[in-house]
Amino acid sequence: MENKTKIMYWITMIRILKPKFSIKLYLFVILQCILIFVPNLQLILTQKIGDILPQSIAGGDYEDMIILLAIQAGAMLGLQLLHATIKVIDIQLKSQYKCYLEEKLHTKLSKVKIPLLERAETHNQISTLYRVIQELGFPLLKNLINFIQTILTLLVMLYIMRNIHWGVIAIIVVVSFVNVLAVQKYIKKQMDIYREISEPERKAKYFSGLFVDKEIVNEIRMFRIAKLILSKWKLLLIDIENKQMNLAKRQEYLYAGIQIITHILQFFMFLILIFFTHFTIGTYMLVSQGILQLQTTARDLVDSIKNIQEITGYLPSYFCVMQLEEEDGEQSDSNQHFHNLNKEIRLVDVSYKYENANTYALHKVNLSIKSQEKVAIVGHNGSGKTTLVKCILGLYDNYIGEIYYDDISLRRYSRDSIRQHISVLLQEFGKYPMTLEENIALDFRNDALDIPKDDVVDKKLFDALHVSDSDDFIRKLQTGIKTSLNPIYENGVDLSGGQWQKIGLARAYYKNADIVFLDEPTSAIDPLSEHRLFTGMLQHLSDKTAVILTHRLGICRWVDKIIVMENGSVIEMGTHQQLMQQGGRYCEMYQKQTTWYGETENILKKELVKQ
Ligand SMILES: Nc1ncnc2c1ncn2[C@@H]1O[C@H](COP(=O)(O)OP(=O)(O)O)[C@@H](O)[C@H]1O
Ligand SMILES: [Mg+2]
Repeated sequence: MENKTKIMYWITMIRILKPKFSIKLYLFVILQCILIFVPNLQLILTQKIGDILPQSIAGGDYEDMIILLAIQAGAMLGLQLLHATIKVIDIQLKSQYKCYLEEKLHTKLSKVKIPLLERAETHNQISTLYRVIQELGFPLLKNLINFIQTILTLLVMLYIMRNIHWGVIAIIVVVSFVNVLAVQKYIKKQMDIYREISEPERKAKYFSGLFVDKEIVNEIRMFRIAKLILSKWKLLLIDIENKQMNLAKRQEYLYAGIQIITHILQFFMFLILIFFTHFTIGTYMLVSQGILQLQTTARDLVDSIKNIQEITGYLPSYFCVMQLEEEDGEQSDSNQHFHNLNKEIRLVDVSYKYENANTYALHKVNLSIKSQEKVAIVGHNGSGKTTLVKCILGLYDNYIGEIYYDDISLRRYSRDSIRQHISVLLQEFGKYPMTLEENIALDFRNDALDIPKDDVVDKKLFDALHVSDSDDFIRKLQTGIKTSLNPIYENGVDLSGGQWQKIGLARAYYKNADIVFLDEPTSAIDPLSEHRLFTGMLQHLSDKTAVILTHRLGICRWVDKIIVMENGSVIEMGTHQQLMQQGGRYCEMYQKQTTWYGETENILKKELVKQ
C-alpha cells in the first residue's frame, strides 16, 4: 500500500468517526491533555523534595517537606482518578463506535450488488473485516490521540531532565526505534496471515455449524457422515492453527529479542550515569524516577505507533468492503421511477453467465410478459428459470441484452421503485425467527403502497392466510398467528417444509403488488393442498401480472402463456392447447406427468381391489 493511499484512508476514516459521540471524544482529549502534565509535575516535586531533604533533616524542620509530600500524594490521587475516568470513557466509546461501524457495514452489505455477494473473495474480505472492525472505531482515534499525547509528554519530560547526560537520552531513543522497526515487520506478517486464514476459517465455521443445523442433522445421522464432516473440519482447523502458531512463535521470539536488546542498552545507560554525571540528592531522585517514567512513556509511544501501524494494515479491508459496488450506485443512471406496468415486461437477447461457470445459464432469451398476463415458466432443473427471474427482478444486473419494463430499460429504473411493485416467493425464501404474523406481514405495513388501519391489516392477513391454504394448520397452533416460529428461540415452534412454503406464499399475497413472481411455489406441498393452492392462486392473481415457475404442469392449463426452457434457452412458447398440438417438449413432459399420475392411480386401484 502506498503512503499516499495510507494517508487518504486515515483522513477518510477520521472524517467518518469524528462527528460521532463528539462530547465524549472532546472530554477524552481534554483528559489526555491533563495527562501530559501530571507525570511531569511529579518529577518536579520529586526533585524539589530531594533538594530540601538535607536541610530538613539537618534543621529538624519538616514543614515544607510535608507540604510537598501532600501535593505529591494529591497528584498521585488525581492521576489515578484520571486514569480511571479515561478507562471508562474508553470502554464506552469503543463499544459505541463498534456498533456504529457495524451498522454502517450492515447497511452497506444490504445494498451491495448480489453477484458480488456470490463471490468467495467478497466473503473473505467481509470476514477479515468482521475480525478487525472494532479496532477501526475508537482505537483508531485513541491511538492517534495517544501518539500526540505521548510525544508532548516526552518533550516536556526531556525538558525537565535536560541536565542529564545526553547518552542516556540517546539510548532511550535507540531502544524505542528498535521496537518500532521490529513491530512493523511483525504486523505485516500478521495481516498476511489474517488474509490467508479467512477462507479456511469460514469453511471450518460452516462445517462445525452443520452439527446443529436442524435441516442437516438428520441427514448427517442417516448417512453416517459425522466422521467425514469432522475430518474436513479438522483438516481446516489444523491448517489455521499451524499458521497461527507460526505467527505466535514469531511474536514471542521477536519480543524476547527486543527485551534482550533493551536490557543490554540499559546496562550501558547506568554505566554512563555512574561515570559521567554528578548528582545532588534531588537530581538523583529526578533521574531515577525520570528514567522510569521516560521508559514508560517511550513504551506508550512505541505502543501507539505499533497500534497505528496495525490499524493502517486493517484499513484496506474496510475500504475494500465499503467500496463494493452498490445496486443503485452513484455511477448508475437509475433515476427512473416505476409506477405500474401498463404494457409489458420484454426481454431482448438476454444472456447470463455466472462468474465461475463455463457455460451460459441463460442464452439469448427473448420473451414478453404482458400486463395482467399469467405466465408459467417450465423446464428441467438447472434450465435457467430461477436465473431468468433474478435478472427480471434486477437482482442480477450484469446480464447481456436488455430487459424492458414498458419500453424503458430495467437498468434505468431505481431498483427500489421496481421492487415496491413486485411480490415474490423466491425458491430460497426467508424463514425469520419472528412470529408467524411478522413472517407474513414483514415491513409491508409501512410500505408506501398502503398504510391501512389495524382491522384492515387483519383482514388482509387473514385473506392471505386463506388463499395460501395456511388457515387450517394455523388454527391448530396454540397461539395462532402470534406463535413464534423457529424452535431455537423460547416458545418457538417449527413448521414443516410445506407449511413454510405456504407462509412464503401468504407473504407474497399479503404484499398485494400488481406483479407477482412465484418460483416453484408448490414444490414441497401435498397434491390436495396443491390443488386448493392453484385455485386460490389463480383467483388472487386474476387482475395481476403473474409469473409462476414450476415443475408441476397441472396449472399450465389455466395460464395464458407457457414458456418452456432448456439449457438456458426458450425452446417453446404458447398456450397449453398450442403446445400440446405442437407435440414438442412440453407435450412430452405433460404426457409423462399425466401418465405417471394415471398409472399410479391404476396401480393403487388394483392393489385396493386385491385387498
Ligand atoms: N450462484 C451460482 N453460481 C454458479 N452457477 C449457478 C449459480 N446458480 C445457478 N447456477 C447454475 O445456473 C444454471 C441455471 O440454474 P437455475 O436458474 O437455478 O435453474 P432452475 O431454476 O431452472 O432449476 C444451473 O446450471 C446452475 O448450476
Ligand atoms: Mg430454480
